[in-house]
Amino acid sequence: MERQGCMHMRERLEHILKEVVEALAGVVSLRELEEVRLRFLGKKGEMTAVLRGMLSLSKEERPAIGQLVNETRAAIEGRFDAIEKALAAKALEESMAREALDITLPGKRAKKGHKHPITLAAEAISEVFLGMGYEIAEGPEIELDRFNFELLNIPKGHPARDTQASFFVNDNVVLRTHTSPVQVRTMLTRGLPIRIICPGRCYRVDEFDATHSPVFHQVEALVVDKGVTMGDLIGALQVFTTKIFGENTKIRLRPHHFQFTEPSAEVDMTCWECGGKGCRVCKFEGYVELLGAGMVHPNVLSMCGVDPEAYSGFAFGLGIERTAMCMFGISSMRSLYENDIRLLRQFN
Ligand code: DAH
Repeated sequence: MERQGCMHMRERLEHILKEVVEALAGVVSLRELEEVRLRFLGKKGEMTAVLRGMLSLSKEERPAIGQLVNETRAAIEGRFDAIEKALAAKALEESMAREALDITLPGKRAKKGHKHPITLAAEAISEVFLGMGYEIAEGPEIELDRFNFELLNIPKGHPARDTQASFFVNDNVVLRTHTSPVQVRTMLTRGLPIRIICPGRCYRVDEFDATHSPVFHQVEALVVDKGVTMGDLIGALQVFTTKIFGENTKIRLRPHHFQFTEPSAEVDMTCWECGGKGCRVCKFEGYVELLGAGMVHPNVLSMCGVDPEAYSGFAFGLGIERTAMCMFGISSMRSLYENDIRLLRQFN
């Protein structure tokens, strides 16, 4: 009986090992491996049953069978470990293949911004004047009435104020209606001679249409020195217009009135569209209006601490929007403010 029990155990162990080998042969995943492990090594597994069966063996038989059980168990565990390692390696390989980066794929192009045509025009204008030895000056957009008007020979109540409908902050503070107050600031703070340009933003109470905007940009220029003449003004403007609009650009001056210059002129240039022949852009005039200019009024010079007997100067104020429209052939000022990316990206 005991011998039989012993034989029976051996057979059973051999049989289990064989079964394990067969079961493992079909295992393709870690989950399946775990199922097989439970079937043989789990609490209710076959090896556990065998261990329980040892209770029925005699004391003499136990050591030999015990050793056999241990060896079998170790053999089974060894196989499980080997398969587990193989499956883990396979899973890793698969996940690496799945998540592989194809470094030969073309990259995604980063979207780069563009400078706005107004900025481009302001920079182009500044560059021309920097090349002629001018310096860049700046002033605040929220300005004193004194600098925006009074020291430019436009006292409170003067009718010239009506041409520049203004956003007043209070009686003495205004959103600057032009860049001309920077002339005043420069004369009051910098030593002579002066040769500056000032690109900047201005504000007027205007309806927004094809040629007007309540927010717009100007470039102011001011030159003050001994013996400065109207000829110097015209020379500077000729250099500027040919550099920006092309060699064949001509300018003409029409008499005008500004409170802060005497004499004053409006300056036109040959139409950028037709070159002077006449077209719809220039309303068949051949010329388009470009800027206001003149010789700095003696009152302005003396109010700003410059002796008009010893010094003279010229100044002009130029619309950047108009310049940008001429430079890039944009027909409506609205296009400059609509921020339509299809328009903006054309001018780089
Ligand atoms: N400030 C004037 C305007 O906005 C333009 C202007 C005219 C500026 C004549 C000047 C100048 O410096 O001399 O209408």
